[in-house]
This record gives sequence, C-alpha cells and structure tokens, in this order.
Amino acid sequence: MIDMDRPMGRTPLDRPGGLVGQGLDRIDGKLKVTGRAPYAYEYRFDRPAYGFLVLSTIARGRIQDIDTASVEQAAGVILILTHRNMPKQAPNSPRTAPQLVDDRIAFRGQPIALVVADSFENARAASYLVKVRYVAEMGAHDLAAAQGSAIIPPPRNGSSPDTSKGDVDAALAAAPVKIEATYRTPAQTHAMMEPHATIAVWNGERLVLCNANQNVSRGAATVAATLQIPRENVRVISRYVGGGFGAKLAVQADAILAAVAARMIRRPIKLALTRPQVFPATTHRSDTIQRLRLAADRDGTLLAVAHESWSDNAPGENSYEGAAQATRNIYATPNLLTAHRLVHLDLPVSAAMRAPGEAVGLLALECAMDELAVALEIDPIELRIRNEPRVDPQRGTPFSTRMLVPCMRKGAELFGWSRRSTRTGQVRDGEWLVGMGMAAAIRGNPMLPAAAKVALGPDGMLVVSSSMTDIGTGSYTILAQIAADLLGLPIHRVAMRLGDSDLPPTPGSGGSFGANSAGSAVYDACMNLRGKLIAKAGFDAGTRFIAGRLESGGRSATIEEVVGSATISADGAADPGQSRKTFTQESFGAHFAEVGVNEVTGEIRLRRMLGVFAAGRILNGKTARSQAIGGMVFGVGAALMEAIVTDVRDGSFVNDNLAEYHVAVHADIPAIDAVFLPELDPHSSAMKSKGIGELGICGAGASVANAVYNATGIRIRDYPLTLDKILDSWSRETRPEQRSEVGSVGRT
Ligand code: MOS
Repeated sequence: MIDMDRPMGRTPLDRPGGLVGQGLDRIDGKLKVTGRAPYAYEYRFDRPAYGFLVLSTIARGRIQDIDTASVEQAAGVILILTHRNMPKQAPNSPRTAPQLVDDRIAFRGQPIALVVADSFENARAASYLVKVRYVAEMGAHDLAAAQGSAIIPPPRNGSSPDTSKGDVDAALAAAPVKIEATYRTPAQTHAMMEPHATIAVWNGERLVLCNANQNVSRGAATVAATLQIPRENVRVISRYVGGGFGAKLAVQADAILAAVAARMIRRPIKLALTRPQVFPATTHRSDTIQRLRLAADRDGTLLAVAHESWSDNAPGENSYEGAAQATRNIYATPNLLTAHRLVHLDLPVSAAMRAPGEAVGLLALECAMDELAVALEIDPIELRIRNEPRVDPQRGTPFSTRMLVPCMRKGAELFGWSRRSTRTGQVRDGEWLVGMGMAAAIRGNPMLPAAAKVALGPDGMLVVSSSMTDIGTGSYTILAQIAADLLGLPIHRVAMRLGDSDLPPTPGSGGSFGANSAGSAVYDACMNLRGKLIAKAGFDAGTRFIAGRLESGGRSATIEEVVGSATISADGAADPGQSRKTFTQESFGAHFAEVGVNEVTGEIRLRRMLGVFAAGRILNGKTARSQAIGGMVFGVGAALMEAIVTDVRDGSFVNDNLAEYHVAVHADIPAIDAVFLPELDPHSSAMKSKGIGELGICGAGASVANAVYNATGIRIRDYPLTLDKILDSWSRETRPEQRSEVGSVGRT
C-alpha cells in the first residue's frame, strides 16, 4: 500500500532514461484511428432492441396524463416505460440516480419516458407519438433575477462554501487602490464528441452495462443501489470514452433506463442520447455571477481580496460551482473572504465540468488582478510576484511545491512579454488592434484511494488491471509506462486492462486525480511484484530491473526465467494519506495570449498563445502537452464563444446543438504551445507527479480577455467576449482612434 503520509524517497522512476516522461505515442492510438476501439454503443450483442428517450417540454409542473396508446401501436415498438410502469427504485440520494420517479417535472428536458423498439428509427419515430398533458407551473430560470433567493449551500467534501480571514470591509475602506467588479460567466455544456450511451444486457441476475462513463466503479455502485440489486451483480464497462470533461462522472438516465427496460423485455437494449438531449437531460456547468473586490497598497501589496460567487442548480440539487475556491490559495493577503451562494432554479442539473470552480473562477479573479495592475500601473506579472504567498493564505499550510513565479517568468521570456505595450490600443496590424494578456493558472491536485493488479505470465507479458478509465487523456499509455519502467520491460510487453468495474476499484478519471490515484496503485502493484520476483530468484533488495532482466551484483536472470511456468501476480493500493492535510497541493501555470480585435467588425481572433506549467513529474510529454493544449483551447472557447443560451421565459436551452453552441475549432486556434517546467512533487503521488487534466483551462480564458483589454482598452466582464459587446462599447464610447482608455477601473 502506498500512502502519502510521508513524502516519496528515491524510487526506480528517478533513474534517468526511463520510459516514464518520454512522449510515447498512445498505445491505443492505432485501435482508435482504425476504428477498432469499441465505444459504449458499439459492442455487439444478439437481437438488440433500441431505446429513445422522451423529454419533458415544460420546465416545472406535473404530468397529468401520458397517452401511450398510439405509441404501442407503432411499428416495431416493444415497450414504453413511464413513471406509471417504472419498477420500484431506491429514493434519490447522492448514491442513487432514480428515473421516471413520479409525475413531477423539475426542468425542461427531464426524461419522462423511454420508448423501446426493434430499431433506432422505429423507437425515435414512435417517441414523437407520445402525447403528454401537463399541468404547468410558473418557474424561475434566471440567475440574476433570482439572486436574492440564494441559499448558503451545504459543505462539499468537507470544504465550507465560505471562508473569512481578517476584516475585508475595513481593509477595503482604508486602502488607497481598489477594484470592485462583477463578472458573469454563462452556462456551458461539456460538448464531448461522444454523447451519452449505454448497452444494457442481463445474464440471469447479472447486469452488464456498456456505458460511456468516467468512473465505472462508482457507476456500478450507483446502478446497483438505484435498482436495489447486489453490487456484485452489476458490471459497467467503459473501455474507450469519447471525451467526458465531467459529463460522464456519474451515470445518467440512459444507464438506469436501459437496465430496467432490458430486464423487462429480456433483450439487450442500446440507448444513445441525441446531442439536443445531452444538453438538458445530462449535466452542464452553471452560469455564475461573481463579485470581486480587491484592495492594494500603492506598491501593489494586496490588502484585501473578496470573491463572492452565485451559481444555480435544479430543485433538490445542492452542488454549486466553486468559483472562489482558487482564490483561497493563490495570492497572499491579510484579509480574505470567499463565499458561494446557490440559487435553485427550474433548470437542468448543473454539475462538474472540466476544472469545476477554477475554470470560471479564474475568468473573474485573473481579470480583476489585471484591472488592479492597470489601476496601479504595475506590470501584471510583477503584481502577482509581489503577492506570492509563503504558505497557503487561508489554511496556513505549506505548499507541497509552488512554481507560479517560475512559470510566469519563463512564459514572459518565451512569449516576448517585454514587447507588450502597457498602454491600450497602441499596436496595430492593418485594421486589427493587437494586444497581449497573461493570467495565472492554479488547480487543485487531488488523489483518491485506488487499486490495481499486475500479473506476469510465463510468456513475459505483464498484464495491468484496474477500473481506471481513459477518457482520451492517455491513461492506457501512462500506466503502461509506469509498469514497464518498474519491471524493466519494453512498452510492448505490457498489456492494459482498464474501464471495467470488475477490475480493482479506482475513482476513474476526473478532477485531475486519475493519474495520481490509479498510477500510484499500479506503482504499488509493480513494486509488490518486484518483491515477489526478487524473492523467487533469491536476489537481494538492491536488484535492478532493466532490459527484461533482474540484475544484482554479478547475478542476472531474464524475467521469463524467474517467472517460470506459472503466472505471478501482485495487488496494489494507494491512498492519499495525510498529504493533502499537511500540505496545500496545487499545480500551477501561466498563460500568455495575443489577440487581434478587428476595428471594423469587432471580431476577436486569437493570434498566438503559450502556457507554461509545473505539475510535478510529467509522465508522458506528448499526452501531457495534449492535455494542456486541449485545456487552453477550452479556455479560449470559454473566453470568446461558449455559452448555453437559456430562454429565461421558459427555461429552455435554445442553442442545444453543436452548430449553435460554439466551441473553438481549428480555425479559431492558431499557433499555440504548452511547456512544462521540470518539477518533482514527493508529497503528491508515488510518481511525484501532479494532475494535469484540468490545469490547462484554468486561467486560459482570462489571459485572452486581458489581451482583448490590452488591444482595445475595453474590459468586458460578461463572458463570452463576442463582437457585439465590443461594438456596443465602441458605439457607447468614442471610436477607437480617438480613445485613450475605455472601461472602468475603480481607482481612488
Ligand atoms: Mo472532471 S469535471 O472531474 O471530469
């Protein structure tokens, strides 16, 4: 068992020239690009039936009547499931996900029926014949309008929604320079390529779900608890996932309804959501309203930081967007207040989306810091350096490692920050106003309990098994690298078995904890296997595993010789121990963006971008860079285009498709690069690595928004920064050529 109660000492991974760290190609890459990696909907079973969801068309009220007579007559229809014939389920709780519970409608797009037919087309056609009579009620769908009804949400994972240190109000009143600004971020959808999908198959009492899922161990537990069947009778398989970003952390309606219906008709059921169904029937990121107050001395020393955030969720849902969380860790200040408020609205369920908290929190905080730098006439990097804390500003604990300043310095050098004009609206390229911006990146570095198993066969192949998933992040590859390195084997002698809840349990992929958690478990299993091999060979503890051999002193043996005729296996387990209590654990980075803003159209184009990060040992240079760049692209989208448009009159998501919900595409992203600084964090994990899946998005959008300000002098605090907001600002103010500084900064 690896527990992180104590820092890791020297390990075999510290040996130079190992596989860990190398930018190996993904070992599953060939399967994916040749279409042979099965995704949830693609497994083959005999005589599958097909399901299609029916969603509510009102946002609040109840179902008075569902007329299913014409559906039952429709071609190929086998079953229609509604709250009237839904078998008994466990009540709703954080551990369950009951569906079609009763006649209540809590949001528009809530699943209200499942139609099952002999083909997808017949199921979908029949779904349009369902006639529902509703008793509609007035709903609340507008965060700003309902802000006054906000509640203090319950603590989450032991973390309080509010923190307070010192006296923020007094410090603000007395400070010579202050910023007060309210930022808004819109609701967002994960927009992963693969929509939610399930195939449900029963073998007697045993249920197998092929399910697009980030966390199969928890998924199987949720399904078992909801259907009130033994946990060991549920197996969730999710070997390849077409992206998740948090949307697939928990099982959704497709898994539960496919399982229930498949049992009723004694046939496998395939059930996939359409994209317009994914928007409301699964989860999304809440919009936020964030009030920032910063106070500083004339030399830039922060005297007070206050960050209050409002987000919303569906009735009965108490999770909130932790937008002010990072503000507790990032800058030194004697007076610090963070607060989260939750408004219950009649809207679909909000939940985690890539870097929940930081992703939108830094869109506000890191722009407010830029506003402060402008007010102080201090370089934004220098302002941050002057407020670099020695310990966690809220908890007082030391940081395990903290490389924010080196990331900013390296980024400034590589990006050419010194060429930035400190005055806005000064740099032109034809009809484009050009500007540069930067922002800090910070993201929590969690680890959770995880397990793994390794088995070495007489053929010399090492099989690594764990319920860990690969959601496109590279889990298959990095875990194989860790195992190969520790056993001294080439990568092609490691076979990975992941994404199956029958394998040793892990928390799966999410929250940037995947590599730390599953990786440490694989590390532990491999170290235990080394011990068994050393004992079997009769070698000593100093034995090295290198090039397929055990070597010690003058003695040497091949792995196959030591294994002999019977497979040798070992279990591994990892636990975060005390490390997250003793140390504040965060990964860090700095983003630099250059944008052009078209003086005629107001269009904003990213011209180039750089992220410099420090996240402990980098396990695979290629997949890590890909994660970082993917996050940065996500951040560019958040800054410039991504927004779910909610019709606040009826609670509908208007642009519920990828034509009208804009994510950044290739044409939006020019030269962009990500660099990792060398770092080892012995407090973080067995590999001394930190999570990187979410670091890239954190602060990325703020650097773009700050660049827009630098280009134009316009400070837009309402994301995304679309051209209409630029044009509005220009039409309200003077034309750009006459303008010196537009946008309000509170300077006293
Ligand atoms: Mo992440 S939002 O925990 O997949």
